[in-house]
Amino acid sequence: KKVVLAYSGGLDTSIILKWLQTEYHCEVVTFTADLGQGEELDPARKKAELLGIKPENIFIEDIREEFVRDFVFPMFRANALYEGLYLLGTSIARPLISKRLIEIAEQTGADAVAHGATGKGNDQVRFELSAYALNPEIKVIAPWREWDLSSRTKLLEFAEQHQIPIAKDKRGEAPFSVDANLLHTSSEGKVLEDPAQDAPDYVLQRITRPEDAPDTPEIVEITFEKGDAVAINGEAMSPATILTKLNELGGKHGIGILDLVENRFVGMKSRGVYETPGGTILLEAHRGIEQITLDSGAGHLKDSIMPRYAELIYNGFWYSPEREMLQALIDKSQEHVTGTVRLKLYKGSARTIARWSDHSLYSEAHVTFEEDAGAYDQKDAQGFIQLNALRLKLLAARNRRFK
Ligand code: ARG
Ligand code: SIN
Repeated sequence: KKVVLAYSGGLDTSIILKWLQTEYHCEVVTFTADLGQGEELDPARKKAELLGIKPENIFIEDIREEFVRDFVFPMFRANALYEGLYLLGTSIARPLISKRLIEIAEQTGADAVAHGATGKGNDQVRFELSAYALNPEIKVIAPWREWDLSSRTKLLEFAEQHQIPIAKDKRGEAPFSVDANLLHTSSEGKVLEDPAQDAPDYVLQRITRPEDAPDTPEIVEITFEKGDAVAINGEAMSPATILTKLNELGGKHGIGILDLVENRFVGMKSRGVYETPGGTILLEAHRGIEQITLDSGAGHLKDSIMPRYAELIYNGFWYSPEREMLQALIDKSQEHVTGTVRLKLYKGSARTIARWSDHSLYSEAHVTFEEDAGAYDQKDAQGFIQLNALRLKLLAARNRRFK
């Protein structure tokens, strides 16, 4: 038996690795992805070797460009927000990790994949729905749902027993569960588990507190082509470079902190602190360019399906016909979403201050409060209002009769 494990190199997945070897008696292949979590990958290789993984069974890959180009950017075309606020930073990374797990399984002749998500959360659902959608025969091992290492203490005992190095974290009380990639860092658990308590500032990992951010605002210009950001301040950059650059700017100016209680797919509510510096700027900018390039019918339709689209991604249905159908609709809407937005970044806010485009639908000739040189006949509005008011008048007349 052979299993491909999504391996971060951290304590939990190292324990899982050992557990798969000792309790499941299977050969383990590790997959470690650079998704922009800001951690060196070399230690993960060394640790895997130390835990007895053969060099040919260690897969370490930089998939940042694919992540942003094929997952993050398509999602941002929709302005996707789950429950009105969450930018889906963890949700959108899972399908890509699963895709690589399945590909590596096929390449190495493994019949199973394994992940370190618990049996209580969304991530197990996302990993597994994606895996089954890509390979209906694959077996999935989710150690958290199976083993009897039910407490932190038991886990640490198991680690000690098997000589798994336990990194002491700096503060000794960092949040229990952190997930990071180029789009966001999420923190859940421990001190955050009581939503009535303020999240302490030390939870923040990549964003300066707005009150500590620079006192002078910074201007940035983002250029879009068909709905995707392609340049910053006139300089063309790759998708991952753009997001990296926006993360720097957002992090510095305190932009993109969210404290949220959300509804997990499995039914419970959970509280998390999310840091999405670049993504928060990008969403504002994308809305800014859509303001002048999208027709109202097109814009309102895509906005109306957005919550459904976001929920599909949150619930793990990236690889589903309905997500792909909504994506086709969204992508179609972006054909003319090309142009540039200027934003002001200042102490926690990213505000659009100008936008322009060759594809603009904005007509100053029509909207002006000054002389409009015949572009628009105000008399037309009278009949427009009368016909729209007709049924309201009939209703009002009836209401009078039955008052
Ligand atoms: N609650 C967020 C979500 O479901 C974040 C999950 C974080 N996952 C983790 N393994 N720490 O998308
Ligand atoms: C986990 O349960 O592993 C993290 C939280 C989640 O997946 O929602």
